[in-house]
Amino acid sequence: MHLGRKSMKILYASVEVAPFAKVGGLADVAGSLPKALDALGHDVKIFMPAYPMVVGSTAPKFTGLNVQLNSNQSYSFDAWELEIDGVPVWLVGGEGLFDETHRSEELYSYGRDCYLFFAQAAMTLCEAAGWIPDVVHANDWHTGFMPVMIREKGGAKWENTATVFSIHNLQYQGGFGRDTVAAAGLPEELFTSGKLENWGGVNFIKSACVFADMVNTVSPTYASEITTEAFGVGQWGLMRDLTHHGKLRGILNGIDYDAFSPEADPVIAKNFTPEDLSGKAECKHVLQKELGLIVDPNAPLIGMVSRLSDQKGYDLILKQAYGMLALGGQFAVLGTGDQWVAGELRQLEAEWRDQVRFVERYDGPLAQQIYAGSDLFMIPSRFEPCGLGQMIACRYGTVPIARRTGGLADTIHDGQNGFNFGPIGAKPLFDTVNRAFTAYQDKAGWQELVRRCMETDFTWKSSAVQYEEMYRDALRARVGVAVSV
Ligand code: GLC
Repeated sequence: MHLGRKSMKILYASVEVAPFAKVGGLADVAGSLPKALDALGHDVKIFMPAYPMVVGSTAPKFTGLNVQLNSNQSYSFDAWELEIDGVPVWLVGGEGLFDETHRSEELYSYGRDCYLFFAQAAMTLCEAAGWIPDVVHANDWHTGFMPVMIREKGGAKWENTATVFSIHNLQYQGGFGRDTVAAAGLPEELFTSGKLENWGGVNFIKSACVFADMVNTVSPTYASEITTEAFGVGQWGLMRDLTHHGKLRGILNGIDYDAFSPEADPVIAKNFTPEDLSGKAECKHVLQKELGLIVDPNAPLIGMVSRLSDQKGYDLILKQAYGMLALGGQFAVLGTGDQWVAGELRQLEAEWRDQVRFVERYDGPLAQQIYAGSDLFMIPSRFEPCGLGQMIACRYGTVPIARRTGGLADTIHDGQNGFNFGPIGAKPLFDTVNRAFTAYQDKAGWQELVRRCMETDFTWKSSAVQYEEMYRDALRARVGVAVSV
């Protein structure tokens, strides 16, 4: 077998995939990386749960499939085939399996066994379809048992299939009890030997990392940060070990240039290009008006679109918000998450009604209007595996203010395409915002900065090639064949 330039069959698994079902950045990646791989000539299929809100009344393509998880637990299921921009999407589900999701907010209402089912159902479906992939690419803990099931239950049919696992956020690991081994229908020996054991229980991320042929995370900086105690969330030893064995990579995410496109976006007030930024001024005007902020072209408008949490640095923002507003700044905040953050934002809005607007919901079009209409985008994360907001902001000529960590450090370079700072602290954040406000006064200089942001390359092009290389390396590790690249 020769795997050089040959196209590969790739099954790309995720429990959220944009535009079908989205909570966070994982969905954006799962909806766009497969397209980029498809464009490189590979035979890609996306694999996801068949949430009712996605399949609606469409008839399934495969019916009466069955997964026997263990001696007591078997599931009958159906499989659907849809597509996203020409890339086939396979969805599996049935009674009691992913059938409670009617809105994106309900995506994560399932227990461990649903995800064990999901892992094994991938094999059953591929076998039924007569399509055994060269590479199975699993994403985040929900899909973490796919590499385990393929190796332990796949048998000869799956011997030549390599598995790859991507960590989008090490904070969410899927930790369960020791009984997970039996629930998965796997031998106890996998626990006692330590392969599936983690701090006395079973952890989906660890299991995936042990069984996958290659592991990656979504930026080079985060890949090295997670080998340290401060960022490793109890798994830094494992991450060091993977790195030592050449099994852990950092590959920066890209964004979908068709979905985020200032020159063609239908939901923003006026389209614009780096050459003609007049439409951006119009977007700001309309955004200020619609959000009920003072309509002032010279007030620096800061957009924030992210999960309301400590990870995203909202505590730092809130500590220095008065100072930023006193300097004449305006805030447009969109997001859902921790209630204490939402409460403080509501209070800030009540006190500074002319300068602050907080919208607590998930709203794709409004997010795009904020990206397009703001001057600055604030994302002072404590840690950030990659972060997509800063890239989308750049694409729309909105200058990021970011902390130098993870993917933010890899994408935003001070003075080049944004402003950044190192130490975690409200004061360093404030000083950086102040610096950005000063730069904003110089209109000609600012327009140059906006253009540089818009011209930074955040396409999938080079990252998709890095995934392709990782797949080949995973196959090489698995099959031990000659690969000419
Ligand atoms: C997670 C991470 C974020 C990353 C996204 C997509 O949401 O927190 O940093 O951009 O996954 O990989």
